[in-house]
Amino acid sequence: MKALPKPIDPNVLVGIEHSDDAAVYRLTDDMAIVATVDFFTPIVDDPYYFGAIAAANALSDVWAMGARPLFALNLVAFPDKELPLSVLTEVLRGGSEKAREAGISVLGGHTVKDKEPKYGMAVIGIVHPQRILTNDRAQPGDHLVLTKPIGTGIISTAIKQGECPPEAEAAAIAAMATINKTAAEVMLNIGVSAVTDVTGFGLLGHLREMVQGGNVGASIAASYVPLLPAVEALAEQGAVPGGTRANMRSTHSAVEYDTTLTDTMRLILNDAQTSGGLLIAVPAEKSARLVEDMRAAGVTAAAVIGEILPEPKGKIFVRF
Ligand code: CO
Ligand code: CO
Repeated sequence: MKALPKPIDPNVLVGIEHSDDAAVYRLTDDMAIVATVDFFTPIVDDPYYFGAIAAANALSDVWAMGARPLFALNLVAFPDKELPLSVLTEVLRGGSEKAREAGISVLGGHTVKDKEPKYGMAVIGIVHPQRILTNDRAQPGDHLVLTKPIGTGIISTAIKQGECPPEAEAAAIAAMATINKTAAEVMLNIGVSAVTDVTGFGLLGHLREMVQGGNVGASIAASYVPLLPAVEALAEQGAVPGGTRANMRSTHSAVEYDTTLTDTMRLILNDAQTSGGLLIAVPAEKSARLVEDMRAAGVTAAAVIGEILPEPKGKIFVRF
C-alpha cells in the first residue's frame, strides 16, 4: 500500500498514508463516508461462526473510526464441488446475523469459485467529518483501554492442532463473534482521544501504530491485559501462529520488555488477533467511567492496560 500514489483529492480525510482502520471520504461539510473491506479463510470449523466472526471483524473497522455502519456487501469464495451448498448458507447466515445485530442489512455481494472458502464483507459507514476518531491522536497522560481479551491466534492454532480445551475454544469464538458496537457507543458517549481495533498486527503492533502516528510513547502492564483462557499454556506448548512470531520480530525495535517477562508473554502480546477489541486512548480522568460504563453495558473484559507517555516517541515499555 505504501507504494501506491498518495491521493490528491482534498475530500480524502483518511487514506492509505494513515495506516488507519478504514478510508474516510468527505461528501459535505457535515457528512463523510467510511469504507472498509476484510475477508479471510475459515478460522473455526463451524461455518455459522466463521461467517459471524468474519462479519464482526469487517464491521469493526467502521466503529474504530468513530463511525456508524450503514450497509454491507458480502465477499465470498466457495468451491463448487468439495463442499455442500448448505455450508455456504450457514456462513452467510452467520454474517447476516451480525449485520442484523449491527442494525444494518447486507445489500449484495459477489461470489467466486475457489478451492478454499473465503468470506468477509465490504462495509460502508457514515461519520461527521469533525467527529472522526483516528489512531494517531493519543495524548500524553491518556489511559489505554482494551475491550476484549487477546489470544485468538494462539487458540485458533491450538484448535487446528487438535490441542484446544473446549472451554478455551468456546471463549475465543464468543469473543471473536462479539461485535464492537456497544464498546464503540460507550466510547463515543464518553469522548476519547484515539482508537483502533486489535487485529492481525497484535496488541503491540496496533499500539505501535498508535504511538508512532501520535508521536508519543506508551507503557503497558502485561498483567493488566485481559487474556482468553488457557492462552499461556497453549503458547507454551507451541500453539503459536507464524503471523504472531512475525509480529514479534516486527515490533522488536519499538518495544522494551521488562526482563521479568517470559518469552511466552511477549508472544501473547504480539498474537495476531481476529475480530479483536478496541484499543482506546482516553483522557485519564475519564478512564474509570469508560471502563465502568462498558462493563455495565456488557463489555465485560474492558480494562485499563497502560498509559500514553510523552517520551520516548514511538516506543512502548512493557512491564509485568
Ligand atoms: Co482495524
Ligand atoms: Co481492516
